[in-house]
Amino acid sequence: MEFEENNPFSEEITSALSTYQEDFVRNNLMSDAFLDFVEENTKPIDQLFAYYRCAIMEVETKFKVLDESLSVELERNPIESIKSRVKSVDSLLRKMRKKNVPLNLDAIEENIHDIAGVRVICSFPDDIYELADAFLAQDDITLISRKDYIKSPKPSGYRSLHLIVEVPIFLKDEKHSMKVEVQFRTIAMDFWASLEHKLHYKHDLPPERAQVLAEELRVCAEQIELLDLRMQAVRNEIVTYNEENPKDSSFPGFPDIH
Ligand code: GTP
Ligand code: MG
Repeated sequence: MEFEENNPFSEEITSALSTYQEDFVRNNLMSDAFLDFVEENTKPIDQLFAYYRCAIMEVETKFKVLDESLSVELERNPIESIKSRVKSVDSLLRKMRKKNVPLNLDAIEENIHDIAGVRVICSFPDDIYELADAFLAQDDITLISRKDYIKSPKPSGYRSLHLIVEVPIFLKDEKHSMKVEVQFRTIAMDFWASLEHKLHYKHDLPPERAQVLAEELRVCAEQIELLDLRMQAVRNEIVTYNEENPKDSSFPGFPDIH
């Protein structure tokens, strides 16, 4: 491989990295405190994750209902697809370490807001705001925070609307409020975000090439914004024309039956 041929230290570096990785796992994921925590809390941890899965079901259902009801008004489905996930244990632990969250379940629920994640993918930017408003207007949804990376994109070019909400789940004898992160994007923004994610996490590119590609992606994000708006303008013109020129409401395919 190119890296090994050009780098006489590659073996030493590789071995140092693997020692570092082992130390990291031993000191963090396998620390006595963490192992004790898992042992004492196995059932409550499983239960907490089950609650988050229930919260995802509640939120997904709300969006499916909104999609169905808006489809009558709009004569199309505003939601292209919904993708959901519960955070993996290793990324939860990484985030707890980054944010210095104490090792107890209340602190996790309080401080980590994206254990349950629902991504709503729409065809057009307008649909995002219409769906988000309709969702937030529901009286069992509490808004915790809202970040509009469509109006104010991240420096990377990332665009999406993010909401952190609380939604109740109804259990056998009690009601529980769970936090869920909802991300709204267009199909094009989603396409962009998955490629950009690969640039961050899954590559062995030399840093200077990674920088060139990051800039290329930033330009792509601007073109995607224009594309989304142009497609929306085409859609709007068709809708306006159809509203101003309603079709004859008699059934054209059916001859009059008398
Ligand atoms: P996290 O620690 O990543 O959860 O960030 P945060 O708590 O500051 O929240 P933020 O709203 O910035 O981002 C939350 C999520 O949005 C991330 O986990 C990603 O799914 C997505 N995201 C944010 N920024 C980017 C980006 O630049 N590129 C991509 N591909 N995704 C992003
Ligand atoms: Mg996150």
